[in-house]
Amino acid sequence: MAPLNLWLRCETKEFEHRAALTPTTAKKLIDAGFTITVERDPQRIFDDAEYEAVGCKLVEHNTWPSAPLSSPIMGLKELPPNDSTPLPHTHIMFAHCYKEQGGWVDVLSRWEAGQPSGMLYDLEFLQDENGRRVAAFGYHAGFAGAAVGALALAKQVASGGEKGRLGEIKPYPNERELISYVQGQMGAVQEKLGRKPRALVIGALGSDDIVKWDMAETAKGGPFTEILDVDIFVNCIYLTSKIPSFVDRASIDAAGAERKLRVVVDVSCDTTNPNNPIPIYSINTTFDKPTVDVDGYVSTSCDVDATGGTDRLRLHAYRLKAGPPLTVVSIDHLPTLLPRESSEAFSNDLLPSLLTLPQAVADRASRQGQAIAASEAGSGPERVWREAEALFWTKMGEMKAAKKQ
Ligand SMILES: NC(=O)c1ccc[n+]([C@@H]2O[C@H](COP(=O)([O-])OP(=O)(O)OC[C@H]3O[C@@H](n4cnc5c(N)ncnc54)[C@H](O)[C@@H]3O)[C@@H](O)[C@H]2O)c1
Repeated sequence: MAPLNLWLRCETKEFEHRAALTPTTAKKLIDAGFTITVERDPQRIFDDAEYEAVGCKLVEHNTWPSAPLSSPIMGLKELPPNDSTPLPHTHIMFAHCYKEQGGWVDVLSRWEAGQPSGMLYDLEFLQDENGRRVAAFGYHAGFAGAAVGALALAKQVASGGEKGRLGEIKPYPNERELISYVQGQMGAVQEKLGRKPRALVIGALGSDDIVKWDMAETAKGGPFTEILDVDIFVNCIYLTSKIPSFVDRASIDAAGAERKLRVVVDVSCDTTNPNNPIPIYSINTTFDKPTVDVDGYVSTSCDVDATGGTDRLRLHAYRLKAGPPLTVVSIDHLPTLLPRESSEAFSNDLLPSLLTLPQAVADRASRQGQAIAASEAGSGPERVWREAEALFWTKMGEMKAAKKQ
């Protein structure tokens, strides 16, 4: 088998500094017989020179469309929108088009137009034989989410609890610097509140000051008053179906002045999902504006009663809801707060699968453009790619059906 050349493309999504392939993983692949081409990318946390130093070939930024079709293109996030150019390459990336996200038909249509050679191996759906994802950013999403939540709390508390909102946040060069900064901020919060701040995490483990909840604790069904009794609530669950809300406007109102909760970090970010168990906000926040206020803290209302031909303006009294301000962090690319560590962890987890890619690509050469079913994925080490290939064809079918409707 000829050595496989893997092509690491640049990222074009704003604020994205992570890489699907790090210099460490690239070196291991080169040692295993791969050749690696890397596009120069000023946005990436890893310097171009770090790739060059381990033997990668550097090429100009965003030149993957002219790469040989035999080179799988590796990236992390979506390609720029509003582009219908065919995609005849094999792409390994998070394409965010398999769950009928906005624009999914247009995205998949690009691979349809790229047949017979085009293929998407979507990183979100690469699974081992037990159905577990081979690589994910969940750990660093929770880590970064908790840190941003702590910083949002610190800002609010430092300003007397009323006006302060966290401003733009920038990626940290490493975990150590982030932890040290957050610890300092938490010290200031403790001094101001006269007690240790507390957090509750659902969907992960914790410690004494972090109440840890998983399936057993939420089995009784929300809303949960316990959430309103901590300063920060971090939601990290993997939502698969409709569940009772964890917290909602009624439960917040019911807590009144007793409410301690000031910051909700929705790591899961099922923002537009109709089953979102935190139905108190409706937008995703960003690194330049990390929080959104839960409206209703100060509520004004008026309505016009036009009965009997006489317009009558009824002004309701201003109703100041009790308790501190409540803000939500709903950033959907949290791991980029720690781009170096999160990329290293992800890329390292992906390595065993990448090592089997040459075999998978060679196998596919004889059936280009032909669908396979999941039942044909087999059991060899490169099964992960054949399963992803079968899923690609399933989604391609769904896309074609959606187009006919
Ligand atoms: N915001 C971001 O930047 C970002 C980045 C990566 C992942 N994510 C999201 O983070 C979430 C978690 O990802 P993960 O990889 O850690 O998932 P995971 O499946 O490894 O962990 C989810 C945990 O939630 C628990 N859980 C599921 N339903 C629950 C419920 N009803 N009550 C209590 N616990 C419940 C599970 O038992 C499990 O322990 C996902 O929604 C993922 O899409 C967000």
